[in-house]
This record gives sequence, structure tokens and C-alpha cells, in this order.
Amino acid sequence: MRSISVPLESRAYSIQIGVPEAAELRLAVDEVFSGASSFILIADRNVLPIALKIRESIAGSGLTAMVEVPSGEASKSVEQLGRLWQQMALLRADRQAVIVAVGGGVVGDLAGFLAASWNRGVRLLQVPTTLLSMVDSSVGGKTGINLPQAKNVIGAFWQPSMVWIDLRSLDSLPEREFKSGLAEVVKYGVIMDPDFFGWLEANAKSILDRDVQALEYLVGRCCELKAQVVSADEHETSGLRAILNYGHTFGHAIEALAQYGTYLHGEAISIGMTMAGRLAVELHRWTGHELSRQTELLEAFGLPTSLSNRHDPIAPESMVQAMMLDKKTSHGQLRLILPSRLGHVETVKDVPIDAILRHAKG
Ligand SMILES: NC(=O)c1ccc[n+]([C@@H]2O[C@H](COP(=O)([O-])OP(=O)(O)OC[C@H]3O[C@@H](n4cnc5c(N)ncnc54)[C@H](O)[C@@H]3O)[C@@H](O)[C@H]2O)c1
Ligand SMILES: [Zn+2]
Repeated sequence: MRSISVPLESRAYSIQIGVPEAAELRLAVDEVFSGASSFILIADRNVLPIALKIRESIAGSGLTAMVEVPSGEASKSVEQLGRLWQQMALLRADRQAVIVAVGGGVVGDLAGFLAASWNRGVRLLQVPTTLLSMVDSSVGGKTGINLPQAKNVIGAFWQPSMVWIDLRSLDSLPEREFKSGLAEVVKYGVIMDPDFFGWLEANAKSILDRDVQALEYLVGRCCELKAQVVSADEHETSGLRAILNYGHTFGHAIEALAQYGTYLHGEAISIGMTMAGRLAVELHRWTGHELSRQTELLEAFGLPTSLSNRHDPIAPESMVQAMMLDKKTSHGQLRLILPSRLGHVETVKDVPIDAILRHAKG
């Protein structure tokens, strides 16, 4: 297994990536979770076979229990969290219990917040099973649930004690979900690492073929980059962590306005990055050549780069309105993350609304 450390002083942890033997997880768990009273797996129903294997591997380390969660964003709810709290009580989970989140970002965020809130905080093992959760949501400690009115408004920063990435989990991931995760991967290249961007361009085919060696490098590099940002700005206070929101202010507006289910998160982010990129070029902050490279790479990964005409058109005015409501605005001012060169982005506060309007459309 390749090991990447997230240096956060007393909250430091490692991300393990590879194609492990069954016994390896048990060894790692014994080392990291010494003194654990029980392991409570919270598993996405779509990945039960994966969760059962994890359970089998760690059964020798202590009592285990498994709670299933229905697949889909709707599970990041007060109702599901309440149900999980009740289950924890029934299982008599104490402060030495360990929560094991097995699934994509939905289960990672929900089970992560369960770990943050149970008994004022118990240890957490993240076992991400989607590409998005491997390269993004399982690392960094953001946990939480949604309200019907707004996404991710209830939550906590709660770092896992280990992230366990078995690349074989991706075998069953549907093509569209896999490609959606690649949008965040391209994002890392654009915001932080021009060499990685070039590597993605050169290896697009083996990545799409899910070649294990290519995936190990890809997931590892993204985790290193995320770890770097998170350890420099754990609680998003200095502004550095905000660079991870590149493409997201446009993207969240697209997700909010398009009919539910039209776009997966990564698809909306791919369109959002293209809109942000075009805006940056118009403002003479970025070159058209680098924007074309971004567009071509997103398209090579089968991602959309403009709003589809097949669906109800989204008016640029409603886009801007939704963008103003996004939590990244500060004192009514829209702050956008815009690229200045491949591998580098800046926070721009005073983008003229009419320029945004010109780019907030297909
Ligand atoms: N905490 C963070 O920092 C952070 C960052 C980014 C996104 N998120 C959150 O992550 C969520 C999205 O995560 P996601 O894209 O992983 O979605 P998801 O968890 O809904 O998973 C996507 C779909 O794939 C299925 N699935 C998962 N693993 C599978 C596998 N190995 N084989 C087959 N099917 C599988 C799931 O059941 C689901 O239907 C959102 O709620 C978002 O808010 C959090
Ligand atoms: Zn995202």
C-alpha cells in the first residue's frame, strides 16, 4: 500500500492506497485503532459486498456491527442521522467505538458527522468507494448533512484516523460516476499542479480504462495535493482551502437550478470550471491556450463543458442569483476562484456582474 500522511499535529493521519491483501487492513486497524471497543460499519446499500469484506477483515480486531444506509444524497438527512444515533444507542456504542464509513461521499459525510457527534466524538475510519470520495471527500475532515432548504449546512470538521482506499472498489462503479469524479481530478491539476495536468493529458486512455497503476498514481497525487491544502488551512480560515472551490460557485448554481438528477456533481463542476475559465480569459487573467487544454482534457474524460440544450435552459440571471446565495459570498460580494496560469488560481472579489452574466450560459 502507498501511504500518504496528512500532517495535522495531534489530528495527523494516513491515507493508504492500493490493492491490499485481506490481512493488511486488519494489521493497519490494530495499529491505528488500539483500544477500540467495537467497529460500527455504516455502509451504502450499493456496496454491501465491499462492506462485508471489510467487516470480515477486521472481525478479529473487536466486535463489529453493520448498519445499512439507502444510496443517494437524500440519506444526508436529519432523519437518517437520527436513525443512526438510535442504532448507536441500541448497540451500546461507547467512546471507544470506531465508525467505519463504507461508500461514497454521501455515506462519508453522514457517517463522519455521526462520528463527530456521537459521545462528543469517536474515531472514524473512512473507506471511500467512489472516485470522488477517494480524491476529495474522504480527506480533509468536512462532515455533515443537508436540510431540505440547503446543502451541507449542518456539520463539523472531524478528521478521520485513517483513510483506506482499495482501488478494486472502483471495479463496480458505474462509468458516469467514475467520469464525474475525474472532474475534481482535473481541478487539482488546474489549481495546483501543472505537471500533474500534463500527466493526465498523456494518460487519459489508461485512466479511462481504469488501469490500476494509473489509478494508484492519480488517486495518490490528488490525496497529496488535498492533504497539502488541508494541512495549511484545516478550517478554511486563511482562504487557501477556498482554492478547492474552483468551478464550484458556477457548478453549485447549475446543480441548484437544473432539474434534479440532470447533472452529477462532477459534471456540473466541469461546466463550472469551463465558465470560470472563459471568464478568466475575458478578464485577461488567463490564456485562451490553457483554457483550451482544460476544455480538451475535460472532454477527453467524457465530461460536459456547456449546459445541455436538451434540458430546460437556465437563465444567466438566475445563475447569478443562485451564485450570490452560495455560501462562498462574503458581505454580498461574489468571490470567484479564477485561474491565472495552469497550476495557479487566485481569489477575485470584484468581477463585474455583466461579465459573469456573459459566461453563465451554455
Ligand atoms: N466532505 C467533503 O469534503 C466533500 C467533498 C466533496 C463532496 N462531498 C459530498 O460527497 C457527496 C457526493 O459523493 P459521491 O459522488 O461519492 O456520491 P455518492 O456517495 O452518492 O455515490 C455515488 C453513487 O455511486 C454508488 N456507489 C458508491 N460506490 C460504489 C461502488 N464502488 N460501486 C458501485 N456503486 C457505488 C452510490 O450508491 C451512489 O449511487 C455529496 O453529498 C457531496 O456534498 C463532500
Ligand atoms: Zn466538488
